[in-house]
Amino acid sequence: MSKRRAKWVVGNWKMNGRLAENEALLQALASGGEAYSDVHIGVCVPTPYLAQAESLLKGAMVAWGVQDISAHPQGAYTGEVSAEMAVDFGATLAIVGHSERRAYHAESSELVAVKAQRALQAGLTPIVCVGETLEERESGATQDIVGAQLDAVLARLAEHELARIIVAYEPVWAIGTGKSATAAEAQEVHAFLRARLVAKSAAIADVPLLYGGSVKPENAEALFGQADIDGGLIGGASLKSLDFLAICAAAQAVSSAR
Ligand code: PGA
Repeated sequence: MSKRRAKWVVGNWKMNGRLAENEALLQALASGGEAYSDVHIGVCVPTPYLAQAESLLKGAMVAWGVQDISAHPQGAYTGEVSAEMAVDFGATLAIVGHSERRAYHAESSELVAVKAQRALQAGLTPIVCVGETLEERESGATQDIVGAQLDAVLARLAEHELARIIVAYEPVWAIGTGKSATAAEAQEVHAFLRARLVAKSAAIADVPLLYGGSVKPENAEALFGQADIDGGLIGGASLKSLDFLAICAAAQAVSSAR
């Protein structure tokens, strides 16, 4: 069985949620997630809710994590949260380099690579996001942009570290817009990213490549059915348990058909 048979479905709540609504959502995922044993399910919650995620998801088939981490292990970095702090609350996942961090917090690809390495050193699995803007796509620069974003990580991390990362391709024009890339458009970029990994080392050919950007129950199966799409990073639809679980069901259907 290929290591890549199992799909990933990871929620990115962004800056959404309050204690009471989180409780209902997390409880629904903890019980609903049991049905999808071929899917790696996770949710990346706002940091203040890590303890809540830990208490409601412990023992369930759903992992939890954060949406960003500091590039530093500890120290005088007011307002930042370290990877180790997330680990203290049972987190296993950390999104790094989301396009909203790159755009609103001026995070460079080099900083994202440092964060990916920090996550690994603390025992977290980094989900490294890459993606082009609409202007970049329209000018034909998609491969240059996502290639350079991935290269920064390939250059910094050792092979044994790279073997433990996840990459998410999230075209900026598809995030939160309702306008997903088509399955064929996404697959084309995923195939490019896969080739880039393999060119670095055959040992990292199986790094999971997730697609993100307006994934919904209606388009999940077509996206996840593509040869190089190993699952999804889900924003808006991860805030509704029925939608998120329907996306998990699509992932399960594709996994079991392989
Ligand atoms: P979306 O967000 O599913 O709401 O488009 C995806 C993401 O930003 O990770």
